[in-house]
Amino acid sequence: MTERLWPDSVSVAEATAIAARLTDALTDRLLGVPPGLEGRVYEAMRYSALAPGKRLRPLLVLAAARLFGVARRSALQVAAAVEMVHTYSLIHDDLPAMDDSDLRRGRPTCHIEFDEATAILAGDGLLTMAFGVLAHPDTHGEGAVRCELVGALAAAAGPAGMVGGQMIDLIAECQTLDIGAITRLQRMKTGALIAFACESGAILAKAGGDLRTALRGYAHDLGLAFQIADDLLDVEGSAAETGKPVGADAAAGKATFVSILGVERARAQAELLIDQAIAHLEGFEERAELLRQIARYVVNRRT
Ligand code: IPE
Ligand code: IPE
Ligand code: MG
Ligand code: MG
Ligand code: MG
Repeated sequence: MTERLWPDSVSVAEATAIAARLTDALTDRLLGVPPGLEGRVYEAMRYSALAPGKRLRPLLVLAAARLFGVARRSALQVAAAVEMVHTYSLIHDDLPAMDDSDLRRGRPTCHIEFDEATAILAGDGLLTMAFGVLAHPDTHGEGAVRCELVGALAAAAGPAGMVGGQMIDLIAECQTLDIGAITRLQRMKTGALIAFACESGAILAKAGGDLRTALRGYAHDLGLAFQIADDLLDVEGSAAETGKPVGADAAAGKATFVSILGVERARAQAELLIDQAIAHLEGFEERAELLRQIARYVVNRRT
């Protein structure tokens, strides 16, 4: 990155705090509330997007962008866009028709704080706006690069990625899936967006070759491990730490690694995936130390 966001020796906690502060500042600016009646949907978008989440995806965007020397402004635009898509997915995931949850990021969910219709629109607004952010000249000087970002995010978030995974997740509440099918579901609903976050740095830098392939391999394993850790937290975590209800997956009959393998084997699987993710980064040498630490954090986190 031309302008350094953090020193090489930065910890995950420090880098996360920086990524969150900068991404939130940009999001705050992008989501200025207009004076008309439509201001209500902006308020709902801000309520969810600026609520205290982990900002893992912005952190991954910035950490990966740095590997390729991407300009800070470009990386931040992508970080804000990815977090908007992620926040939209949470708002819709929590709706009564989906996981029917009343707590998110330690606060009442969007449809509880506002109302269901407003929450649907807030999700729609964040999803749509994310593509506008990627298409903006601030993201990259070259239209072709912006186009590639738009296409890659659409693929990750759409029916072949996150939306498709969410569909399978709901169907699996009343149907038994084997481990292969659950793996595919998790990679789609969570892994695809995390993979986009990691790969966007390579897209911005127009980098190809072995390093990009390595980063893709890292992201592939990290994304699945992240969702297994989320499923473990639903069993072993607390609402005070995660900011969302616990025990919800078992109550809804969700198909997860934990439901099929049990806690111990699911944890072992997540740890194995993290070792694999880290092994992919060998070619980056010490430059990828932050990404290695992020991978370890993903399985050890309590939030
Ligand atoms: C929760 O994501 C939804 C999943 C994809 C598992 P996060 O755990 O990243 O949620 P926030 O952003 O910290 O709230
Ligand atoms: C949601 O998975 C993944 C999304 C695409 C939002 P979960 O339903 O497990 O996420 P949480 O546990 O509610 O955050
Ligand atoms: Mg869900
Ligand atoms: Mg949910
Ligand atoms: Mg969950």
